[in-house]
Amino acid sequence: MAFAHRDLTGILDFTKDELLYILDKTALMKQALREKRVKDYRLANGRDLLAALLFYENSTRTRTSFEIAAQRLGMHVTGFSGTEGTSVNKGESLRHTLDMFEAYQCDCVIMRHPLDGSARFAARHVGMPVFNAGDGKHEHPTQTLLDLFTIREHLGRLSDLAIGISGDLKFGRTAHSLAVALAGFEGIRLHLFSHPALAMPDEVVEMVREKGVEVHVRESLDELAADVDILYQTRIQKERMPDLSEYEKAKAIGLFTGRTMEKTRAHFGLMHPLPVDKSAPSIAAEIDAHPRALYKTQAGNGVPSRLVELALSLGLMGDDFQGEVFSEPECSDAFIEQRPIRQKPVRDDVSIRPIRNNGVVIDHMEPYAEETLLQVLRVRERRDIYRAATVKATSNPHNIKGMLMIENRRLTDAELRTVASVTPGCTVNIIENGAVSQKLKLSLPARIMDVPGMMCTNNGCISRPEYLESVSPFMLRAGQNRVRCYYCGQIMNISQIV
Ligand code: CP
Repeated sequence: MAFAHRDLTGILDFTKDELLYILDKTALMKQALREKRVKDYRLANGRDLLAALLFYENSTRTRTSFEIAAQRLGMHVTGFSGTEGTSVNKGESLRHTLDMFEAYQCDCVIMRHPLDGSARFAARHVGMPVFNAGDGKHEHPTQTLLDLFTIREHLGRLSDLAIGISGDLKFGRTAHSLAVALAGFEGIRLHLFSHPALAMPDEVVEMVREKGVEVHVRESLDELAADVDILYQTRIQKERMPDLSEYEKAKAIGLFTGRTMEKTRAHFGLMHPLPVDKSAPSIAAEIDAHPRALYKTQAGNGVPSRLVELALSLGLMGDDFQGEVFSEPECSDAFIEQRPIRQKPVRDDVSIRPIRNNGVVIDHMEPYAEETLLQVLRVRERRDIYRAATVKATSNPHNIKGMLMIENRRLTDAELRTVASVTPGCTVNIIENGAVSQKLKLSLPARIMDVPGMMCTNNGCISRPEYLESVSPFMLRAGQNRVRCYYCGQIMNISQIV
């Protein structure tokens, strides 16, 4: 059972084979629901399964369609819709709230939460499957599955398509997940339109371009609509905007009207994850009954789509799946390489002299990285004897490098990991009785955690200390000197994290 016990926290949790399988099953389930073939969808009958729906933010479609899907499957549901009346408003952390629903022996958690990465945290924290029903501005993968289903239902394919995405591309999690998901298919051209302040994040554009997607940033919604097969309109996410003057400017552009519809192709489909904000509409009400307006059908597809997702994770279907199964990419966590030792005579004419007895010399660091190491190794707090400098390399005076020497200090394995995390590429010389006993070349570890002072640069990430959620920052290597936050996916340069 390839899908049993799996979380659904991001759209990249699936291979293309798995996505297509889910869409095929959704089509069958939609038909079964329409024809009220109860035995084909009441798959949990007799299993006494309980879903916890924890909605910290407002929702109509996602919450009710999950609830209906669970009930149609034959599951019970519990949880809350908004934090009013819950102990969240007494200051309870997400961790403790999740613990409760695990203690009640719920079988899965379906959660919407305002912090980016909250679903990834929940999935690490509890032993039952977690469904991300929207985490901050990060992702909304179950929306994307029904979006992909709707596109394929309307056009018959998911490849060789021109797709427009418009509205709030910065804070709109549905826009991010859809762009990333479409990048897994061939021949996708993305046409983006938004107020410049609400443009698609660079890392999403970079990721989809790397996968071969053509990305066009358009100046006019009308022109864009004429060139695409599907337009995915989105709401300006006022509740996530720190500067409401930006909202006032952004809401004035991008209204899809009857005139816009006149310019579209015959097979065109207008989609929207909904809701449409009536005080700043992105779609004029006159469009609602138009045959090319797909958003009501799209929202209705939420029930069969989420029913299939629940059934797969709970092991109620999926035994006929054949194809590539998702697995986390394997990557070696080795970060220490032993290097040969060349004993050099001690020179007294250099400004920094090696340690004469015991200690450690950290060399070939990025210039000025020694200041960071002094902090993370708590050198001053420990009252260590040290020298730190950015100097010219003796081998090549055009190269400057950071160095740190600490007398009578032996770095633990955890400290070596910390050094590798903040200054990859450095060498660590272990000095015993005045001579180098080991020379270690450090590279960036695959997993970066427990670095004192490390913080994700995304100020909406659940791992930020100001949210008091006690979620330790956890980064994954994402290329040379780059890391990705495990929770919210933010890409950062290692020089930014401490
Ligand atoms: N599309 C969507 O997430 O709608 P709701 O906010 O109503 O759940």
